[in-house]
Amino acid sequence: MSIPIHTYDAIIVGAGLAGCAAARELTEAGKRVAVLTKLHPLRSHSGAAQGGINAALSEEDSIELHEFDTVKGSDYLADQDAVELMCQKSPETIRWAEHMGAVFSRNDDGTIAQRPFGGQSSPRACFASDRTGLTLLQTMYEQALRSGVEFIDEWYVADIIYSDGKISGVVAYNIRNSDQAIYNAKAVMFATGGYARCFKISSNAHANTGDGLSIVARHGLPLEDMEFVQFHPSGLSGSGILISEAARGEGGRLLNSDGERFMERYAPSKLELASRDVVSRAIINEIREGRGVGPRKDAVYIDLVHLGKDKIMERLPELRDLAITFLGLDMIKEPILISATAHYSMGGIPVDKDGHVRKNNSEFVEGFYAAGECACVSVHGANRLGANSVLEALLFGRHVGQTISNEIDQIDLRVACEDDAVTMQSELEAILSSDGTESVPKLRDLLQQSMTDNAGAFRTKEPLAKQIEIIKELKDRFNNIAIDDHSKIFNTDLQEAIELGHMLDYSLFIVESALARDESRGAHFREDFDTRDDEKFMKHTMAYMDKGGDITLEYMDVVAGKFEPQERIY
Ligand code: FUM
Repeated sequence: MSIPIHTYDAIIVGAGLAGCAAARELTEAGKRVAVLTKLHPLRSHSGAAQGGINAALSEEDSIELHEFDTVKGSDYLADQDAVELMCQKSPETIRWAEHMGAVFSRNDDGTIAQRPFGGQSSPRACFASDRTGLTLLQTMYEQALRSGVEFIDEWYVADIIYSDGKISGVVAYNIRNSDQAIYNAKAVMFATGGYARCFKISSNAHANTGDGLSIVARHGLPLEDMEFVQFHPSGLSGSGILISEAARGEGGRLLNSDGERFMERYAPSKLELASRDVVSRAIINEIREGRGVGPRKDAVYIDLVHLGKDKIMERLPELRDLAITFLGLDMIKEPILISATAHYSMGGIPVDKDGHVRKNNSEFVEGFYAAGECACVSVHGANRLGANSVLEALLFGRHVGQTISNEIDQIDLRVACEDDAVTMQSELEAILSSDGTESVPKLRDLLQQSMTDNAGAFRTKEPLAKQIEIIKELKDRFNNIAIDDHSKIFNTDLQEAIELGHMLDYSLFIVESALARDESRGAHFREDFDTRDDEKFMKHTMAYMDKGGDITLEYMDVVAGKFEPQERIY
């Protein structure tokens, strides 16, 4: 089948904060850029970020404290050059977002309001009520449109055009009618978001299926630190929908079935505002030891009643609505039920601080960039602090957009040809023509449940090893799937099958990397190795998938800096 080839200066995949910010920089620099997204841009998961975006703005705070908190929060696995860049540029990023039109909540004196978040020395999270991500996403999308970015919505990017260490575009199909096209460009940036949907209970959108990561990995390129998946302490019980850390930042208290404020035992000084990994494990531990609440005893309470109606309606209105809608509980009148939820992925496509994608520890892929949650830069190391992800997406999206516009004139366009679409075409054809006996939703459920059971917030060797076998078996069964819909129009069966293939691939990276890391660091907690081992593991995991689907692991040095590793106590 003949396939059209469209040529741009740069292609960006993903239209969340990182994608929109980068695209705007490029068009402002006079480059022709297209953003491909499988969603409408305003449905990107950046819009689900509720609580805030960090910047050291107040007199009591400082850039250095922000850097220190971030490095400590990361359990010393963050690259300190990238952390410095992020923290130094954060105040300017907030002012820039404000000048772009983002409306932040204010103090009575007109300054931008900031709330406390976990693991931070000072109230640092700037916010727009509890709709911070949505406010910023709407602003950035609007500004990108205004500057002439071309958005190609509801196109599914299924492959990159990559050979000899150089990228030259992407291959995609139109979800609306199955048309296919090649997008040829000198530069490609991935901003494809997170991938915590491989767990059963997750705050992530259903779209967060790690497409970008698995596409990259299938070309033999590495994924970094995939074992580090963050469990947010407060997901609505049952669904995992996010109840922002803002609820604890504004004064919410966690209570067990004895009515005990149990964080006093786990983090005596920071209590509910210890870092997320610490609070999540405390919640899970309370439940495991029989002090859970709710009909299934698999939750704890977050009590906000003492904040009063006015404060809840001003600061947390969205959270209140969510708890009423999904649990029938009104936080103005009663505590609500929460438990830990898979929320954020610290690992991803390895990049340096300017967004260049790594081919290995020392080389980069020409013309290929990444930013936002799909990338591992790594500012979060083993554990991210709340309100540093919206910051990372917006700031590095913009920064990498500037990097691309500075470098793009030195990159030669390698002209694409129809053969570049062959891999995507055979993948689509294989799924559409398969007459197997396995169902995609069933295999997806098995993956999500087993990842939660065997590779969740508490890990040990045997369940991890078992999970590797489970994923391999699910991959075999995936080769025998059949889908019901064979039409060309909005074929969501087809899309979900491709997404499941991606989920299976990157899940294996998570588990293989976790099994090999015989220590506990940040969000990766091994009950059989419950302390941090800096001598052996103060390094990044670099994992590669071979053609047969097997994973090999290498390691890369952490970029050290002014903060020496210490024990992490809250
Ligand atoms: O809790 C929250 O509002 C989430 C923020 C974040 O993940 O940074």
